[in-house]
Amino acid sequence: MAIVATAMLSACRNDMHVQPKILPLSHSDFFQDGRGSRTPPPGTIARGQLRDDTYLYTGMMSGKPGNVMPFPATREVLERGRERFDIYCAPCHSRLGDGNGMIVQRGFRRPPSFHEPRLRQAPLGHFYDVMTNGFGAMPDYAAQVNAQDRWAIAAYIRALQFSQNAPANVVPAGQPMPSPTVQAPSTPTLPPGAAPGVPERKK
Ligand code: HEC
Repeated sequence: MAIVATAMLSACRNDMHVQPKILPLSHSDFFQDGRGSRTPPPGTIARGQLRDDTYLYTGMMSGKPGNVMPFPATREVLERGRERFDIYCAPCHSRLGDGNGMIVQRGFRRPPSFHEPRLRQAPLGHFYDVMTNGFGAMPDYAAQVNAQDRWAIAAYIRALQFSQNAPANVVPAGQPMPSPTVQAPSTPTLPPGAAPGVPERKK
């Protein structure tokens, strides 16, 4: 009797790992079209995806690229911008923004220098837009760099532009003008017989 009761009780158990649920894209008889996955009702916004700040996400003000930051460009923002710029943009644009990055040196189309007058005058929203939607041969970086970071990069590009066009009176005393060109590191010499780029196999 006790054994039968235990067996019956355990049959009623419904652990969380066997909870009744519809797995993604699986069949369901509950709905007329037989699909388990439902189309979200119009206007549904997933958690964390409410984009109520239009300027932050488009960089546009009444259809034109704006020239203000959607949040203050603090030191942290600029440092974050530099970090992201060096990762995502410098391979083509170079750390200096002159368009001479490594990928360009290996044959990719050379982007314009950020220090040319047209881009020095371009509003911040233009840089944001180029990163968000791409520009000519340049792919967009919306998937790799989130909106806040794209603005941080735009702010950092402004700092880069200033760094190459700063008037003498804002340059610290003792610093030669223009700044001495940073020497590119020389290619390390390989031991004879070593194939470049192929590390030796550890035995
Ligand atoms: C794979 C190489 C590559 C990378 C990486 C890249 N760009 Fe570009 N970028 C280009 C090229 C090439 C152009 C010129 C495109 C053309 O004129 O067709 C360009 C153009 C631009 C322009 C100038 C648009 C104009 O008005 O002329 C801006 C601004 C810019 N890129 C910003 C960025 C930023 C910011 C990043 C990093 C998030 C970035 N790019 C990453 C290749 C790259």
